Amino acid sequence: MSSSIPEITLNDGVTLPVIGLGTYKLNGNEGATAINNAIDAGYRLIDSAYNYENEGTVGEAVRRSTVPREELRITSKLPGRYQTYDKAVATIQESLYRANLDYYDLYLIHWPNPIQNDYVEAWHALIDAKKWGLIRSIGVCNFLPEHLERLKKETDVMPSINQIELHPFFNQEEQRKWHEENNVQTQSWSPLARVNHVLENETLRNIAEHHNKTVSQVILRWHHQLGSIPIPKSSSPERQRENLSIFDFSLNETEMSEIAKLTRPDGRQKNQDPAIYEEF
Ligand SMILES: NC(=O)c1ccc[n+]([C@@H]2O[C@H](COP(=O)([O-])OP(=O)(O)OC[C@H]3O[C@@H](n4cnc5c(N)ncnc54)[C@H](OP(=O)(O)O)[C@@H]3O)[C@@H](O)[C@H]2O)c1
Repeated sequence: MSSSIPEITLNDGVTLPVIGLGTYKLNGNEGATAINNAIDAGYRLIDSAYNYENEGTVGEAVRRSTVPREELRITSKLPGRYQTYDKAVATIQESLYRANLDYYDLYLIHWPNPIQNDYVEAWHALIDAKKWGLIRSIGVCNFLPEHLERLKKETDVMPSINQIELHPFFNQEEQRKWHEENNVQTQSWSPLARVNHVLENETLRNIAEHHNKTVSQVILRWHHQLGSIPIPKSSSPERQRENLSIFDFSLNETEMSEIAKLTRPDGRQKNQDPAIYEEF
């Protein structure tokens, strides 16, 4: 079973498909079936997190699949409450035990939690876990440039990826520019803005109609052209396939700038500003 999704190479040499599957709320047997459907459709990058309580579900889908493990890219994330060094090491091990995997392709710090201020310690644990072969590539989520700069200054290791909230209503222009200048790959979470109002947006509907595509496909193509890796979540085989069908058309400059105009300073879905918001 082959996949035709193009790949990119991260700053540490690890390759990733340019689109992946989100798995928040995909749990248990139903979740594993949904993830297997996605792998059959061609998805090779699967997101998850300790806090989604579905690392076991993802591991089960990997075992049920006929796609060889080395062709898959499996992600998990370290929760805020386990950011001190010893707890982070034990949690990475626990994540592997839960998934029954030998290694993660990507392991990310889930939130910087700057008030708690343990994220540099957590980063040391990820660096060591990579040395021990437990993780192939290490990254972060929701880090602002000031947090990324501190990691670089104190450990001399820049994350390969920063997974951030990114969709047409919150397009993260400055943060993406910073990533580009510092060779950090952007990944988009809630790439479809959880479809809250986005499917009815007139600008997006007009562009979709023009290309004979759906609004979701236009949004995911927009992420791709921005150079970010979207990880849309869908439990439905039809919508999973729909979300992968973004490589047979392209958006022109006018369409890209029309979509850029939809961004709003308060466009985050839940006002989770990583400068002050903390998640444990
Ligand atoms: N790092 C972080 O802090 C963080 C935070 C949030 C999320 N994430 C990750 O990012 C992933 C994606 O974000 P998300 O799940 O919040 O939101 P999302 O992917 O933007 O939207 C998911 C919602 O859209 C629906 N949907 C998907 N494709 C569709 C289509 N083609 N047409 C209509 N509806 C469609 C899904 O319903 P159906 O399932 O019914 O299709 C689901 O309700 C998560 O699953 C998680 O893995 C990370």
